[in-house]
Amino acid sequence: MNSRVAMAAWWLCGFLPLLAVAAAAGEPLIWLPAENGHAPAPAPGPSAPAEEVTKWAVLVAGSSGYENYRHQADVCHAYQILKKGGLKDENIVVFMYDDIANSPDNPRPGIVINHPKGKDVYHGVPKDYTGDQVTAKNFYSVLLGNKTAVTGGSRKVVNSKPNDHIFIYYTDHGAAGLLCMPNPPDVYADDFIKVLRQKHASKSYSKMIIYVEACESGSIFEGLMPQDHNIYVTTAANAQENSWAAYCPTMEIPPPPEYDTCLGDAYSVSWMEDSETQDLKKESIKQQYEVVKERTAPLSHVMEYGDKTFKEDMLFLFQGFDPAKSSIRNRPLPMPSLKGAINQRDADILFMWRKYEKLNGGSEEKQRALREIKETVLHRKHLDSSIDFIGKLVFGMDKGPSMLEAARGSGQPLVDDWDCLKRMVRVFESQCGSLTQYGMRHMRAFANICNNGVSEAEMKEASISACDGYDMGKWNPLVLGHSA
Ligand SMILES: *[C@@H]1O[C@H](CO)[C@@H](O)[C@H](O)[C@H]1NC(C)=O
Repeated sequence: MNSRVAMAAWWLCGFLPLLAVAAAAGEPLIWLPAENGHAPAPAPGPSAPAEEVTKWAVLVAGSSGYENYRHQADVCHAYQILKKGGLKDENIVVFMYDDIANSPDNPRPGIVINHPKGKDVYHGVPKDYTGDQVTAKNFYSVLLGNKTAVTGGSRKVVNSKPNDHIFIYYTDHGAAGLLCMPNPPDVYADDFIKVLRQKHASKSYSKMIIYVEACESGSIFEGLMPQDHNIYVTTAANAQENSWAAYCPTMEIPPPPEYDTCLGDAYSVSWMEDSETQDLKKESIKQQYEVVKERTAPLSHVMEYGDKTFKEDMLFLFQGFDPAKSSIRNRPLPMPSLKGAINQRDADILFMWRKYEKLNGGSEEKQRALREIKETVLHRKHLDSSIDFIGKLVFGMDKGPSMLEAARGSGQPLVDDWDCLKRMVRVFESQCGSLTQYGMRHMRAFANICNNGVSEAEMKEASISACDGYDMGKWNPLVLGHSA
């Protein structure tokens, strides 16, 4: 019997003195059984329910590569907050590629920071799913608590019970209708929502909150997220805008000079810096949403979706509670400037240029860095122009661009037929090369191609016309895998 169960048992038996002893002995008070968030730790009467609530968390960094340092830094930082909050390692599942701390580009080997003055957040982070185990399928299986469906990794899953709380935090690149994963395919909105519905049907949680940082992250939930599943969601951006990197070399608050990369993301550091400076027994989900929304407002619109009926619940019910914060009086978050933030899609090119500029003139390495920038820029231009070309072929020269970009009103999903969307992406990539995180910006174009009834055969023909003869080189989807 662990001490948590033991304490619940003491409550039941009414051995209050024993409890007082435990508290005095430094047992974290978050283990009290009767907390409901509205009335922190009252002395319950004999009829008080002594249900056990386990707090679970799933943390996902969906990228790889040192140029995407910030996403894994965000996730490591989130882990430290939850850990300090009393969540147990056995209840926190971490997905991260784990190629940052020991990257040759990392100026502080073995250390990851998420703030210019931040301490190491890498130590102690459980490596549940790393490298090629960071997949959409493992993410779904973990959420559903299905150990046999997981491939590789620690096989830790969210084995939650009906009373439990779940916190999901995802940070990475995204696009209309999808969240990227370092290994293809990506997390598509319809699949993710389906998994959430399954989780709900399995009656294995009481409440869930989901925080998502990604470009166009609102599109994952817009018109799709059920409101009666006890799941509350906030996203860094609405369905049609970028989300933003933070603590980048060009910003008002830059990283230490030896870093050529961004250390965090605007929405992410906003919620985490809020969580670690407040007493989470006194701050509600709603209050955090508002603080984060305000701080992120100059960059993107923080959105909320799903079930908004339990926003008054206190945050510690999901993120835990750090006893060291119990004496602080919550105050408005000091809001360090996020001025000069870099949008997610351009952050990697910034890194490549900084790296190039620091190398010695004439060196082989410098030549290689330049070649890499050139190839990347050329592939991006190729993606932009071939999608524009395809739009003109299928919708006519005049209407092409506007048909591709047309956005549906709020409350409507990006696309009606998600399988069509995935097929169109595969057809395009087969002829034109991998979309890469940059090319994901065109997901809405593929959605509109489906929404307007273009057939797969027409799409294939148009893609061949646009891309025939293009040398995909390292962007061949047969090597990289299709993103859908
Ligand atoms: C778990 O996953 C396995 C393999 O994918 C599947 O056969 C099984 O039905 C799943 N179990 C549940 C309870 O969904």
